[in-house]
Amino acid sequence: MSKVLIINGSARKDGCTAAALNEMVKVFESEGIETEIIQIGNKTVRGCISCQSCSQKGRCVFDDIVNETAAKFEQADGLVIGSPVYYGSPNGTLLAFLDRLFYSTPFSKQMKVGAAVVSCRRGGNTASFDVLNKYFTISSMPVASSTYWNQVHGFTAEDVAKDKEGLQTMRNLARSMAFMIKAFADAKAKYGLPEIERGSFTSFPDGK
Ligand SMILES: Cc1cc2nc3c(=O)[nH]c(=O)nc-3n(C[C@H](O)[C@H](O)[C@H](O)COP(=O)(O)O)c2cc1C
Repeated sequence: MSKVLIINGSARKDGCTAAALNEMVKVFESEGIETEIIQIGNKTVRGCISCQSCSQKGRCVFDDIVNETAAKFEQADGLVIGSPVYYGSPNGTLLAFLDRLFYSTPFSKQMKVGAAVVSCRRGGNTASFDVLNKYFTISSMPVASSTYWNQVHGFTAEDVAKDKEGLQTMRNLARSMAFMIKAFADAKAKYGLPEIERGSFTSFPDGK
């Protein structure tokens, strides 16, 4: 059974971001795709210290929710990252978590389908959306899209329930993602994964 791992960057388990993500869960269930939601914003998560020990150990030196999630991410076919907007950006705890999760994990993320979901009361959704999508697009992860940028508006989950277009966007996003996960599974069996070159790292004009 295919699985989508869902990260909720909010501290509020039943807040606005959760309302958006739950709308997606309903679609995944109807598509026969398993889901697991991991709440991040209510945890103490420190940032990356660039110690580079993950390049030897294959895991983060700080053994916490990041390493726990890494094992689940490796098994997942898709990753949804949801975040409330804080001062025009994704929530800081979530960013600390994502920097360490993506940097410390050596497994291939190629063709795992990614989707970012953002929630704000009034402004900053698209800027936050752009930040989250960058984790996918540096990791050979195709990004699922919808009928609007993946955003809802509200200060409470009750507000989000009234954001009809926002919730419609979430349902369409989940349908796109489910389709991509199923199609990629078939394509992987038929064609295998595309080659990835890794030989060059920080190339300067003198070629050295
Ligand atoms: C520290 C902080 C900063 C916020 N900054 C913004 C902001 O820049 N723009 C905005 O529209 N809402 C902002 N909000 C409101 C939340 O983004 C908004 O209510 C969001 O939908 C809450 O999602 P949640 O219930 O999942 O946590 C902020 C809230 C907090 C606590």
